[in-house]
Amino acid sequence: MAVAAPDPTRFTDVADPRRRVGRRVEFVAEIGSTNDLARLLLERGEEDGIVVVTDHQVAGRGRHGRTWVSPAGRNLALSVALRPAIRPDEAWLLSAAAALAVRTAVLPYASLSVAWPNDLVAADGRKVAGILVETALDAERLRHVVVGIGINVNWRRAEMPGELASGATSLAELAAGEVDRSAVFAALVAVLDEEVRAIEAGRSPIDRYRAACATLGREVAAEAPDGEVRGRAAAIGDDGALVVETRDGPVTITSGEVLRLHGGRRT
Ligand code: BTN
Repeated sequence: MAVAAPDPTRFTDVADPRRRVGRRVEFVAEIGSTNDLARLLLERGEEDGIVVVTDHQVAGRGRHGRTWVSPAGRNLALSVALRPAIRPDEAWLLSAAAALAVRTAVLPYASLSVAWPNDLVAADGRKVAGILVETALDAERLRHVVVGIGINVNWRRAEMPGELASGATSLAELAAGEVDRSAVFAALVAVLDEEVRAIEAGRSPIDRYRAACATLGREVAAEAPDGEVRGRAAAIGDDGALVVETRDGPVTITSGEVLRLHGGRRT
């Protein structure tokens, strides 16, 4: 598949000044990480709600210090710059809401589940999208939040590096045809706008998040900071923590990675 030259207006036309998210859209043809530019804009005092989107992210970051690969012309890599009116302990709600927003925005192409904490996976556990939320604190106050979202849109598995191809897929693979990236982007910005407004109005996405979470009820091996925990993913607390029912009783995991034991893929 040839890579067409990027047309910025396909992305910037989505901007709408009446919105909370996406009142301004900054398109950059190539960038290290959209999260870095979004943070810079916030630190410079620009208005919040700006969405930074690129055609080619060359130094993308994933969670836990991993890299996030997003080649030219294939995928969506974007970051939302926010100064949300919420407490620091509520920041995780934004990552839950972002996961739900991706799920809704891609529904015309694929039915994805959430894998705890905030990956979007196909029915076979292959990863389609990931979310990286980075926060800055002022003493006890949330100064700003960057919500970074990467979605594999038209990246074919045959094009993926070997180490990714076994555990990843894309919307084009699931929909069996090329997907309009700007249509996914427009839908995502609209849903994110609603989700962020809802959180600021005190409406938690947690019940919808639990309903969408494929990790719940499964046998998992979780890489927690204190070592591996094996058992059944039994619950997700109101604070987003995963409760794993082990042979020795329940263990609560607040951060880490979960490996789905039946199906075998990291989700
Ligand atoms: C993960 O699953 O590990 C999170 C991946 C997050 C990737 C996105 S792409 C846009 C934004 N910019 C980055 O550098 N990372 C996030």
